[in-house]
Amino acid sequence: MASNEDIFKKVVSHAKEFGFVFPSSEIYDGLSATYDYAQNGVELKNNIKKYWWTAMVQMNENIVGLDAAIFMHPKTWKASGHVDAFNDPLIDNKDSKKRYRADVLVEDHIAKIEGKINKDITKAKKRFGDAFKEEEFRNTNPNVLRRVGEIEKIEAQLKAVQVNEDLEGFKSLIEELGIVCSVSGSKNWTEVRQFNLMFGTEMGSVAGDASTIYLRPETAQGIFVNYLNVQKTGRMKIPFGIAQIGKAFRNEIVARQFIFRMREFEQMEMQFFVKPGTQKKWYEHWKEARIKWHKALNLGSDNYRFHDHLKMAHYADAATDIEFNFPIGFKELEGVHSRTDFDLSKHEEFSGKKLRYFDNEDNESYVPYVVETSIGLDRMFLAVLSSSFNEEKLEDGSERVVLNIPPALAPTKAAVLPLVKKDGLPEKAREVMKTLQYDHICAYEEKDSIGKRYRRQDAIGTPYCITVDHQTLDDNTVTIRERDTMSQERVAIDQLPRIIGEKVSMKNLFIEPVVSV
Ligand code: GAP
Repeated sequence: MASNEDIFKKVVSHAKEFGFVFPSSEIYDGLSATYDYAQNGVELKNNIKKYWWTAMVQMNENIVGLDAAIFMHPKTWKASGHVDAFNDPLIDNKDSKKRYRADVLVEDHIAKIEGKINKDITKAKKRFGDAFKEEEFRNTNPNVLRRVGEIEKIEAQLKAVQVNEDLEGFKSLIEELGIVCSVSGSKNWTEVRQFNLMFGTEMGSVAGDASTIYLRPETAQGIFVNYLNVQKTGRMKIPFGIAQIGKAFRNEIVARQFIFRMREFEQMEMQFFVKPGTQKKWYEHWKEARIKWHKALNLGSDNYRFHDHLKMAHYADAATDIEFNFPIGFKELEGVHSRTDFDLSKHEEFSGKKLRYFDNEDNESYVPYVVETSIGLDRMFLAVLSSSFNEEKLEDGSERVVLNIPPALAPTKAAVLPLVKKDGLPEKAREVMKTLQYDHICAYEEKDSIGKRYRRQDAIGTPYCITVDHQTLDDNTVTIRERDTMSQERVAIDQLPRIIGEKVSMKNLFIEPVVSV
């Protein structure tokens, strides 16, 4: 069986080979931690955006959209705390000169211990077969219990150094855990220092501090500074939300793992404005709504878990990550944060403008509290791509690589294929294609054998292949081949738009599909 690392490598090279993701400016050897989305990637990305926008804006009458500028007044970032507190703790290995995030070194160490627990569980599962009870094993096995205790102790130590910003303590923790550099293998570490993650640039022609503006490190602040404009012009009543999709930039020090951690990336964020005191209720509401959104994709319910933050960001009173089981392990995919009234209060203070809400029902005015959901679009893309990637051995002994992407998210919905390149079949296939193109991205292919063409479509995740054959000329029917089962059925051409439309509809992700053929 291929290791997770092998699978990750395969996913990365598949993404390039089949036109999903390319390294940015590759002809100049690329730019680290920046990537371009290619012909299939951009479609998948757009479909993920649509799924999110439909769930957040279209399906909630009290949530509206926004598209704020990336550049914002410099005071925004002073008010939000990003100038002073948006830092990562860094540490260098003196021998390899490789730079690490101190917290990531400790988290990776914890992940290794978790890996050992999982190994013990897998072994026991094999030994005991059907009689194996995982929960009981976790609660009683001495090795597992010792390791869980070890993890809890390290987590508590990590939380303490983070909360107290104890940089010396951070270094001591790394030394105490015996963490070595993966390149040099040595424990020869520098001190830990803080590094601000924002990219600064100059606006206009004047250089100097006064004109320094930042590329936004989160899209959320564009929502906060527009809160009152939207509330007033949209006549929004609390509770209500503002959603936005857009680019964000962070000068990540440890930028690696493909599109998982990039310096330019995209976020899908929603700020939900609530009455003070009700934030806990709404925090739970959004945790549940967001995990439901993820699980509806059927990428495997076991692939998700919540991970409550050990160290709260400077603005939050509760925060959790929705983690996904990427080939690089369980990692953060989305955050749900209860941000209190921190941001709006700070913007009131720094702008001198009131950002209050007058509650007619209670006849009182207050600064709303905010519950935020924030998901990285690129990480969502990686979650879909990596969990859809499958290498299958078929009954006839052959192999295929298939992307089992949920049909509603698939880049190309249908490929129209004339069985042979003669006898009027290509012309007929073009006619069929025209009936579908209004609604869907479709592909037309006539080169190579039908088997090879099916494989090419499997590799980019096309859920339906429509084959035009000689019978089509007689009775106006075609076959639809389903990607996952490879089963085929014959249908009338005039029914195709309806059938394909129903099968790939985004509605299927919200309600049970009702597809009649
Ligand atoms: N407004 C809150 C906020 O920005 P965050 O946890 O820092 O919170 C939210 O980021 C999400 O953005 C993360 O869960 C992750 O999916 C994505 N994200 C953050 N940094 C990223 C990076 N360097 N590359 C790709 N995605 C990133």
